[in-house]
Amino acid sequence: MSAPDISSRAVVPVAAAARKILSAKAARFTESVIREMTRLAMQFDAVNMAQGYPDFSASEEVKQAARQAITDDINQYAITWGAKDLRDAIARKFERTQGVRVDPEREITVCCGSTEAMMATMMGIINPGDEVVVFEPHYENYGPDAILSGATPRFVQLQPPDWNFDRDELTRAFGPKTKAIILNTPNNPTGKVFSPEELEFIRDLCVRWNAYAVTDEIYEHIIFDGAQHISMASLDGMRDLTITINGMSKTYSVTGWRVGWVIAPPEASTPIRKVHDFLTVGAPAPLQAAGAVALELPQSFYDKLAANYLVKRDRMLGILTEAGFRCSKPAGAYYIMTDISAFDYPDDLSFARYLVEKIGIAVVPGSSFYDDPSMGSRQVRFTFCKKESTLAAAAEKLSKLRPR
Ligand SMILES: Cc1ncc(COP(=O)(O)O)c(C=O)c1O
Repeated sequence: MSAPDISSRAVVPVAAAARKILSAKAARFTESVIREMTRLAMQFDAVNMAQGYPDFSASEEVKQAARQAITDDINQYAITWGAKDLRDAIARKFERTQGVRVDPEREITVCCGSTEAMMATMMGIINPGDEVVVFEPHYENYGPDAILSGATPRFVQLQPPDWNFDRDELTRAFGPKTKAIILNTPNNPTGKVFSPEELEFIRDLCVRWNAYAVTDEIYEHIIFDGAQHISMASLDGMRDLTITINGMSKTYSVTGWRVGWVIAPPEASTPIRKVHDFLTVGAPAPLQAAGAVALELPQSFYDKLAANYLVKRDRMLGILTEAGFRCSKPAGAYYIMTDISAFDYPDDLSFARYLVEKIGIAVVPGSSFYDDPSMGSRQVRFTFCKKESTLAAAAEKLSKLRPR
């Protein structure tokens, strides 16, 4: 008997697999440009001013709480919607800082970062055909969040240099199909902090169309020049129409811990909790325990955080202005959106490539914050959540750059 022809058996399944149509949804977005820039920064040994993670130490008290939690054997799954201590601390802090009282048993879901919180929210509230209003430029995750949840995004422009929006344009973006507006204040990438009047205008549209405001407030404590962070949920009429997303990453300088949360009325929390459970089961239990400690830190911790970032913002504004960038001065968050017209490059992508390869500094091309890439072709974003030696290295690199 002759031996079976194994070569054809090996080839057929591979060829069949190649013919399979993979997710059409995933095909509609690219890998994260921000995280790709971090990889390029490592490849070219460039100073990473692209991705928004602090390169300085987190608070000793919060780190000690995490170490203690592991020592105490908090090593197993927490309750799927979050450890009780952390949910209680989130509820206390929301009431303390925004005057909004929520029920930690029914209205808070702890997730793997606010990234998962946003995705679980979108998948929990969206039906096919629902529209979601999104300001742009916007944090790049909101595009894939909309696609994966099946929402149709309706983009409304924040206009540089002040990043104001046209009230008629926003009004036109709402309608009977609007399920939600995604709001990010303080805003990445623009640094805009939405004013009380703007929030009230958005509130009126949400109430009129019975739409949720899904508010990403992850930069709530990084705020400058007397600007005030106001949670949408604190506005009259919005208590039960707001889904507030937040997390530990930025406030406590622990982006790798992956602890975030959603505060939502019970009817929205129920589907969000179900999606969250089957996406990730839960956020890291010992780090949730540390979160419960972090959220009880005194106001002086937050004052110091904002004061330290103010120094970094002004330092970076000085460096960038000196190098020839036109800068939007951020009132919050830790990014500076710049206009690159002075450098006469064809677009943001080629300029960002040049910066990382030849100048040794990684930035985020502006187009990654827009649905239509051409709208960001004159912009690149710098972060300034870096220690002084990193800012000094950035200054040194950028001194080689010449407007042309
Ligand atoms: C606006 C905004 N939301 C969410 C995130 C991600 O937060 P997390 O680390 O909690 O997933 C970022 C990170 O850059 C961000 O800028």
